[in-house]
Amino acid sequence: MGAIASRKITVVGAGFVGMSAAQKCAEKNLAREVCLLDVLEGRPQGIALDLNHAAAIEGYTTEVVGTNEPKGTAGSDLFIMTAGKPRKPGMSRSDLLEVNGKVVASVAETIRTWSPDAIVIVVTNPLDTMVHLMRAKLGFPSRRVIGMAGVLDSARFSWFIAQATGASVKDVDAMVLGAHGDSMVPMPGACTVNGVPITQLLDAGTIAGLADRTRSGGAEIVKLLKTGSAFYAPASGAVAMAASILLDEKRLLPCACFLNGQFGFEGVYTGVPAILGAEGVERIVELPLDTEARIQMQKTVGAIDADIQALRDLGLL
Ligand code: 2OP
Repeated sequence: MGAIASRKITVVGAGFVGMSAAQKCAEKNLAREVCLLDVLEGRPQGIALDLNHAAAIEGYTTEVVGTNEPKGTAGSDLFIMTAGKPRKPGMSRSDLLEVNGKVVASVAETIRTWSPDAIVIVVTNPLDTMVHLMRAKLGFPSRRVIGMAGVLDSARFSWFIAQATGASVKDVDAMVLGAHGDSMVPMPGACTVNGVPITQLLDAGTIAGLADRTRSGGAEIVKLLKTGSAFYAPASGAVAMAASILLDEKRLLPCACFLNGQFGFEGVYTGVPAILGAEGVERIVELPLDTEARIQMQKTVGAIDADIQALRDLGLL
């Protein structure tokens, strides 16, 4: 990957997550160019122009370019894939399998054709299945195709822990593994407030309640918004991963990675702690799992396998 001054990020999808991700990438000066690709004529161009107008005020030198042409993404170092439909109230993420599966397959074609060396961060839901599909269609090494969700789910858990303990969210380190869905696996044993285990600060019932609220954190927002779903925190999660890769920060972040025996699973994408650097996923970090966490991980991988089978039944994989 070249120097920041010559890098190009493409954000696919100029919906709320995509425009928010493009804004964060520009404000952090993560690349020379942020390309925003969307099928809707005028939308990516309009958002790009608006973000370029803000450059003088915010002081960034990144240029945002909006396009409807797949070719416009050529030569990108990194993609943030956000295109696809969000949930409606009452829907599960898996209800989006067919509609978003088709979008992912078509974007994979664009990436493979125009940016064969890129690293791809997938945000589209149902996350674990869509990242699996993206990798299958791209044929890239799995270290270059990663899903964003653990960063988001862990951030939600962090917020709820901060609220319950009265401690600053800056000092909370939380960890959520598994699928980005109802079966996700919050890991209270791996959560601390500046090194103090949360089990010392909160009783088991309270922690279980916070874990439940984390599991339904996305649905809580869908219900409040009535149309659309969360976008600020999902965009923050994707851009934190992008920054770790582009700046070679080597942060340890929970994200959806392809497992080759780690945690006892083979050939499946799910949320695990990973070190992200210039090569993409540079290392998957295994944690000891207690019996309860192991059962939950088996359940979560079972749910992802069922979605992958559904994708096969639809002829999309
Ligand atoms: C969420 O959890 C959109 O899936 C995303 O809010």
